[in-house]
Amino acid sequence: MTKIAVLGYGTVGSGVVHVLSANAALIEKNAGEKIEVGRVLDLREFPGDPVSGILTHDFEDIVSDPEISVVVETMGGTKPAYDFVKRCLLSGKSVCTSNKALVADHGTELIRIASEKNVHFFFEASVGGGIPILRPLSRCLVADEILSIKGILNGTTNFILSKMRDEGADYSEVLAQAQKLGYAEADPTADVEGYDSCRKIAILTALAYGAQVDYEDITTEGITDITTQDIAYAERLGRVIRLIGMSRRADGRLYALVAPFMLDKCDPLYGVNDVFNAITVTGNMLGDVMFYGQGAGKDATASAVVTDVIEAVKNRDIRVDIRWDEKKQTVEPLEDMTNKFFVRISSEQADRAAGLFGVTEFIDGVVDGEVGFLTGEIKESEFNNSFAQLSGTKKRIRLL
Ligand code: HSE
Repeated sequence: MTKIAVLGYGTVGSGVVHVLSANAALIEKNAGEKIEVGRVLDLREFPGDPVSGILTHDFEDIVSDPEISVVVETMGGTKPAYDFVKRCLLSGKSVCTSNKALVADHGTELIRIASEKNVHFFFEASVGGGIPILRPLSRCLVADEILSIKGILNGTTNFILSKMRDEGADYSEVLAQAQKLGYAEADPTADVEGYDSCRKIAILTALAYGAQVDYEDITTEGITDITTQDIAYAERLGRVIRLIGMSRRADGRLYALVAPFMLDKCDPLYGVNDVFNAITVTGNMLGDVMFYGQGAGKDATASAVVTDVIEAVKNRDIRVDIRWDEKKQTVEPLEDMTNKFFVRISSEQADRAAGLFGVTEFIDGVVDGEVGFLTGEIKESEFNNSFAQLSGTKKRIRLL
């Protein structure tokens, strides 16, 4: 029997306890032994909850308990999660976490400590909620050179953008709904400003190329500027707007970006709605492979954490190396990346735009006094130079 502890009894932590109890027999069979929650750490009280008898407010009760060999960290954020996780690893306990901020900020060090201590640091649930993506990326796609990764990596923003388009829902109302459903971060700024997706694409890119990526090197734009007018333009173009995290390697250079994109009907990510996430990985031999599933929420995310726990139990005496070198990968400046754009301008600027971008076709009638147009593939710096020469109302959204 393995005794585990859960740090943080919020949405995901309570989901872990629920999954372990609901699927207890199956989990025992798959792990080869019973897995029991011995301790739950949280600052709050949960009177009447089944965990109230094993609840502690003191981390020392967990780190000093020799019977606990695996610790689940579902607190979120880095303080105090980083100190707690580090101390667990140093004291010879494996850690399974859903905490992308922790992995993006401290993954390099925590992976090294786990390896030195012959324990595991697993973080499948930190990207894509319940979708198995990190293990496939680092274990199953290793015969390929990864050319690109692009994905809808945040359930909250996808939920918001889907509801705004399909139901004409109001931004703030639908954000409140996402919070109530347990999709959003404690501070939903991380979702809507793209910081959550940024950390996730940094983790994916680190695993794809086997070396750390500093998420602060990745240009990040959120969805707070997306309006119903933008959505109306997208409809007119037969497209949808989604927050995309992407990285690609070309000529030995790495590019990465998080931003809202307009997706064409032909793109496999087009049909990904509500809280669902999807990630397309392109390998030089394999071509495209896509991973799809629920990207946030209690049981789906907990399912990925419990899978990590089972892996940690089954591989107790085996080293599972994670390719994640300490030497940081260089992310090229955004100005050097090429993208395609949708642009909105005031109608009087149409002739100027035609000259600057070689536009031959404008979209009109969506917003009074405005036209829209699409560009071909263009370097971000060149786009910015031409865009700066347009005056009046103007806005741009990249195209996928
Ligand atoms: N707030 C995150 C999301 C939770 O909405 O995707 C899962 O990482």
